[in-house]
Amino acid sequence: MAEEKKLFKVTIDNITIEVEPGTSILNAARKIGGDVAPPAMCYYTKLKGSGGKCRTCLVEVAAGSTADPRPMPKLVASCRTNVMDGMIVKNITSEKVIDARNGVVEFLLINHPLDCPICDQAGECSLQDLSYEHGKEATRYEFKRRTFEKHDMGPFIQLHMTRCILCYRCVFAADQLTDKREHGILDRGDHSEIATYIQKSLDHDFIGNIIDVCPVGALTDRTFRFKNRVWFLKPEDAHRDCPKCNGKVTLWYRGDEVFRVTARKDQWGEVQDWICNECRFEKKKTADWVIEGPTKISRHSVISANHYVGMEVPKETLPDVMGGRKPKLLMNIHSVSEVNRPGIDLSKIEGPAHSTDFVEAKNGS
Ligand code: SF4
Ligand code: FES
Repeated sequence: MAEEKKLFKVTIDNITIEVEPGTSILNAARKIGGDVAPPAMCYYTKLKGSGGKCRTCLVEVAAGSTADPRPMPKLVASCRTNVMDGMIVKNITSEKVIDARNGVVEFLLINHPLDCPICDQAGECSLQDLSYEHGKEATRYEFKRRTFEKHDMGPFIQLHMTRCILCYRCVFAADQLTDKREHGILDRGDHSEIATYIQKSLDHDFIGNIIDVCPVGALTDRTFRFKNRVWFLKPEDAHRDCPKCNGKVTLWYRGDEVFRVTARKDQWGEVQDWICNECRFEKKKTADWVIEGPTKISRHSVISANHYVGMEVPKETLPDVMGGRKPKLLMNIHSVSEVNRPGIDLSKIEGPAHSTDFVEAKNGS
């Protein structure tokens, strides 16, 4: 009889689950799901060696294990730390973690341009989401930001290095999906940049996948750039018989026009199956595909707006407050109210406004 595998018990944000030994804290937290799963800007399940670069996934280990329940002295990267039996982890329940995450986001944004209104990634950008939750309203950075020229890396991909957060995902993707090394990070520290050596183009059949793994708008699809905003597009799952990849994609429609083709992503925003360049860049007609139906977007995203699945319609409260009766007449109080007087500039009134101010305004004094 096969020996039963011993599972490790881990408690994250007061929720206890059992996972296999060797599971990272991040993946254990993803099993619980929701806000308990820390954000991850550099870890990518399908990419070997990814993680440990961005520090957005930091968590507090309040007890290391049953055998040694001492807390870990510093916050740890949950994507690179494995669970131990009896471990107690705090993510959103730890003030230290939230504070550190705010700091990490501030650092990530030091050189990142705030150009979401014109960036193709807006609406599906992990850094944009992260800065909504953890970002500061204003920058404290007074120095000149790092900027780079845009580079066309071959016919399909453009690199806008100014937006890059050096997560290494595209380097791992290119390395692991192609037979030869395609590009890497050159130089060090502040000068580090993603580059193909002397700007050789990336021309491998699967290289388009680096666009999908980029968590920000540094690598963009040249066949889609500036053509549309993602939230105006309707994603549909589709497939085709492809000799190079499994041909399972998401088509992004506006009306009946396919604006772009991407790989399908899971709830953590990670690609499910890599797709080839032909499917991604050259098959932009509905006739090329067998349509399966609307894509279910399970993660919180602007793209899921108006495509709500399992949402409850807000309760109608009026019959409740009126003891079950329907109102005979509904009046717009703003149009009849004596109080709403757009002619009154509240900022010019000293101290709090009083009824006398409104009476004076009414009488024209
Ligand atoms: S280009 Fe994108 S994927 Fe590559 S290192 Fe920069 S942020 Fe990461
Ligand atoms: S996701 Fe863990 S360090 Fe980046």
